[in-house]
Amino acid sequence: MQPNTQTVSSVTPLMVCTDIEPIAAHDNRKTVGEISVDNPRMSCRNVNVFYGEKQAINRVNLDIGRHEVIAMIGPSGCGKSTFLRCLNRMNDTIDSCRVTGEILLDNQNIYDKTLDVVPLRAQVGMVFQKPNPFPKSIYENVAYGPRIHGLSSSKSDLDIIVESSLHRAGLWNEVKDRLDQPGTGLSGGQQQRLCIARTIAVSPEVILMDEPCSALDPIATAKIEELIDELREEYTIAIVTHSMQQAARISQRTAYFHLGDLIEVGETNQIFTNPQHKLTEDYITGRFG
Ligand SMILES: Nc1ncnc2c1ncn2[C@@H]1O[C@H](COP(=O)(O)OP(=O)(O)O)[C@@H](O)[C@H]1O
Ligand SMILES: [Mg+2]
Repeated sequence: MQPNTQTVSSVTPLMVCTDIEPIAAHDNRKTVGEISVDNPRMSCRNVNVFYGEKQAINRVNLDIGRHEVIAMIGPSGCGKSTFLRCLNRMNDTIDSCRVTGEILLDNQNIYDKTLDVVPLRAQVGMVFQKPNPFPKSIYENVAYGPRIHGLSSSKSDLDIIVESSLHRAGLWNEVKDRLDQPGTGLSGGQQQRLCIARTIAVSPEVILMDEPCSALDPIATAKIEELIDELREEYTIAIVTHSMQQAARISQRTAYFHLGDLIEVGETNQIFTNPQHKLTEDYITGRFG
């Protein structure tokens, strides 16, 4: 796949984030670049995350556009996974974790006390670092979500959802003759595509991916990257990656995190060829991280 440097018209930046007050202890707190996009799918404002007393994310402001792949990069421990988990309230499952600020999905605050997180986590699905199929058949791995979310009214409905999800995840041809075999029997790359099929099966709007290729070989990685590019037509994708090459290949926008601060965000091409912040430059040129 060629590096994707095209801009998506729906993510045209509207403003530069200059209205966020810097806090003295954090010289680098003010994000450089355009945090806003036109008609965002998700919109994060003043997001802080604490584990007990320790602050892991500092007042992050960021919009996520429709049909874009946004890559989140930065050194280990800078808060990429923590921030990603805020987007579908996965941090709720960690006892010591507290999230403040506002995160909107289609203009609805996902932290609203009345909001049910079960449908939220279908709308904003997640794919993890290590493929984690259920210890069930390939068919059941994909059918489980639509069944518990009541998305199918009959067995034939469910069959259609399973087939189309496996198709969209680029796995159908490889598994169509062995749908009743265990998902865990597939190769690592196939398992990750099965997990993507499982996420797609419940009709998400956003797919979060936390280093989805880090356990895969280069060929399986290339397949997932191709798939991510195709999935962008239908979904919004936020991906954490430790590979700058991967971020450059698959994303339209890139966000650089450092010690819990969102240092810089911009078009991927600009971030990698003309970073505005010294910390971003140090990281992408390999001087740091
Ligand atoms: N469950 C947790 N409990 C306490 N601290 C955590 C937990 N998860 C992450 N942290 C801390 O939050 C910071 C950010 O971690 P993380 O989001 O995993 O970073 P990254 O994904 O960029 O490597 C780190 O200092 C890490 O130690
Ligand atoms: Mg992480």
